[in-house]
Amino acid sequence: MKKATIVYFSPTGGSEGYVRAIAEKLADEVECIDLTRPEARRRSYTFGPQDLVIFGAPVYAGRLPIVEGGIFDCLQGEETPAVYTVSYGNRDFDDALLEEMDIAEARGFCGIAAAAFIAPHTFSGKVAGGRPDAKDREAVETLAAGIGRILQSGKKGRLTVSGNRPYKEAKRIAYAPQSGENCVKCGFCAGVCPAGAIDAANPERSDPAKCISCMACVKQCPQSARVVTDPGLAAIREKLETVLAVERKEAQLFFAE
Ligand SMILES: Cc1cc2nc3c(=O)[nH]c(=O)nc-3n(C[C@H](O)[C@H](O)[C@H](O)COP(=O)(O)O)c2cc1C
Repeated sequence: MKKATIVYFSPTGGSEGYVRAIAEKLADEVECIDLTRPEARRRSYTFGPQDLVIFGAPVYAGRLPIVEGGIFDCLQGEETPAVYTVSYGNRDFDDALLEEMDIAEARGFCGIAAAAFIAPHTFSGKVAGGRPDAKDREAVETLAAGIGRILQSGKKGRLTVSGNRPYKEAKRIAYAPQSGENCVKCGFCAGVCPAGAIDAANPERSDPAKCISCMACVKQCPQSARVVTDPGLAAIREKLETVLAVERKEAQLFFAE
């Protein structure tokens, strides 16, 4: 196909990588709508029945991340074919994919396929480090081939994904990073924060009421000056590495039937 659009929220790039890979397999041209920054979510984007829109977001505590105004509320479809994806850190995706699908379908999108993929866990390089690997790339190929077949057949099937309603209770995980000794107050962290939680003029702290613990500021600070001092993060990291996310999970694919 000529063009596909990817719409994604991806503070550390795992979700973006997957939607980009799917779109590149399907279309000559890929339009990117990066909804990670708050200003991008303040605009509105509309799509028609001829478009194909591929959604991507991470799983946070089994749900979609909680950001002001919602991640995908700036999108409006009109019977627009859509592919829903989430990426998660090898624990579980619980109700996040279903939540993403419900939000999109209420906004005029029609799901033809969906997938839950595994990417490195934000909180530990040891959990799902090295993903996506060859097996994950194969899953992307299978998904793209299935999407191609569905689009070509022109049939409007019904998409079902795993997850429960009511969804798991939304839980805000707040390990708000602070600036350590190396901080030169350049404000770069404020520029990459998806939640508007850092004051560019005084980046020393994050507002814990807004911070979503995505670690974008920690991972991208040019001085490596952003740190989390909350011992809760070390505890959850240890639990992920030893109990919660040890057994390898595989990508799950869903197709409209
Ligand atoms: C606050 C928070 C909560 C998370 N909760 C989960 C979870 O419930 N299950 C899981 O497997 N991974 C979880 N993760 C890991 C992310 O889903 C995973 O690393 C994802 O690929 C990050 O996407 P991104 O690189 O697009 O930002 C969580 C990460 C963060 C920051």
